[in-house]
Amino acid sequence: MIKRLNETDYSSAALRVRELLADRKPLACVITFGCQQNEADSEKIRKIAVDMGYGVTDDPYEASLIVLNTCAVRRHAELKATSILGNFKAYKQEHPDTIIALCGCMAAEPSTVASLKTHFHFLNFTLEPNMLHKFPVLVLHAMEEGKRTFLLGEDEGDVVEGIGAVRRHSHRAWVSIMYGCNNFCSYCIVPYVRGRERSRASSDVLAECRELVASGCREITLLGQNVNSYASDVDFAGLLEQIAAIDGDFIIRFMTSHPKDVSDRLIAVMAKNPIKIAPYFHLPLQSGSDRILKAMHRTYDTAKYLDTVDKLRAAVPGIALSSDIIIGFPGEEDEDFADTMKILERVRFDMVYSFLFSPREGTRAAKMENTVPRAAMNERMAYLLDVSGKISYEKNQPYVGRVLRVLTDEAKEEDGKILLTGRTPENKLIHFTSHDPRVGRFADVKVDRAGAFVLYGEEEKRN
Ligand code: SAH
Ligand code: SF4
Ligand code: F3S
Repeated sequence: MIKRLNETDYSSAALRVRELLADRKPLACVITFGCQQNEADSEKIRKIAVDMGYGVTDDPYEASLIVLNTCAVRRHAELKATSILGNFKAYKQEHPDTIIALCGCMAAEPSTVASLKTHFHFLNFTLEPNMLHKFPVLVLHAMEEGKRTFLLGEDEGDVVEGIGAVRRHSHRAWVSIMYGCNNFCSYCIVPYVRGRERSRASSDVLAECRELVASGCREITLLGQNVNSYASDVDFAGLLEQIAAIDGDFIIRFMTSHPKDVSDRLIAVMAKNPIKIAPYFHLPLQSGSDRILKAMHRTYDTAKYLDTVDKLRAAVPGIALSSDIIIGFPGEEDEDFADTMKILERVRFDMVYSFLFSPREGTRAAKMENTVPRAAMNERMAYLLDVSGKISYEKNQPYVGRVLRVLTDEAKEEDGKILLTGRTPENKLIHFTSHDPRVGRFADVKVDRAGAFVLYGEEEKRN
């Protein structure tokens, strides 16, 4: 169900916090782990903090409200967050009025929440990602009653509209269009922590995009765990078409797409809008072995995947492709890994993101036998990184000598030279020299050198 913020107790609680803070304007710091969804949620949490009367800082040691926005996708991500949380123990002793909260995907795992509650006595509250509109109420509980709250599992399935965002940049923006996941890939915790798929109304998404473009935003990235299974009055292809029809000089990106939902219509919409829709597609393969794909419950096989790749390349000239690969899924034999490498050599992705399988409590894969020995995993990883790095390097060489339209993102001065960083439409990172330090503009950049993961160049002079 889609709810508006004014149908919740958000505003009254935020106002009360504001009154309690009086004119002190303390600072809030949000630390983000995990994926772009979390980046987008952190921008929402910063907005919530501002609504409650806080200012925003990146330095936790000057903050009176510290929020960890966590990720649960792999064990490593959880360990990192708990270790950073532990660092705040002494700070909290010195500043007992500081409120420390943990949000994000770890806050939606009952066993993790139980353990956080007992091991981190200074933690004021945890709040799962689907319930961010409750944030002011929990801050209020902490302030007024010194109460610790560990909220789980209410309100599942609502989309709450109207929180807004304090965005880090004005020239590019994340726009979540759907939340949750229904796919239950056997290794993945996301469906458990983010709940079932629900899409925002297309009218709300379009209104947000129009506003962004009107305020000068040059790049909109549509977000969802399965962005292309968006389902409202229009499907994802329809939504993309409507956003691309908004007047203005901007580009659209989206992630993450599931291979099962790349429709011919979606490919046709990309083909029809080569300027507005960036020629880039992140399409996680996970494994090149049909046997493993089945055990992963990915619902496509390699033939279907390759067919999609061929269609995309035929319809969108110059499209760049990237992928995710999991190494060491239970039962992965040398032959399965060899099959994965065969697909990587066949597709020749511009970029591959690879992860060692990490068992997540509660998922089916965590209970599977035939786990892959660590040494074999590491060996496969090293080999994959070597081959995919070489392919990335080779894929980047043809860009040398070409002029690309780059959205400038960061600028610095070094030895009297202006150095800029940005992304090409194909989503390639590029460092270049220029005479114009402004960020958030499109620059024509001539590539003069290409590494595996970065291009280098110089901005063309305008006549
Ligand atoms: N919804 C997206 C992203 C999911 S998480 C998708 O479907 O692709 C991002 C990546 O993390 C996944 O693509 C997968 O490659 C990896 N991943 C997820 N669970 C994992 C696990 N338990 N161990 C290792 N890698 C994992
Ligand atoms: Fe996880 Fe699979 Fe859903 Fe992606 S599609 S979030 S990998 S369950
Ligand atoms: Fe991590 Fe949650 Fe994103 S588990 S990858 S932060 S959806």
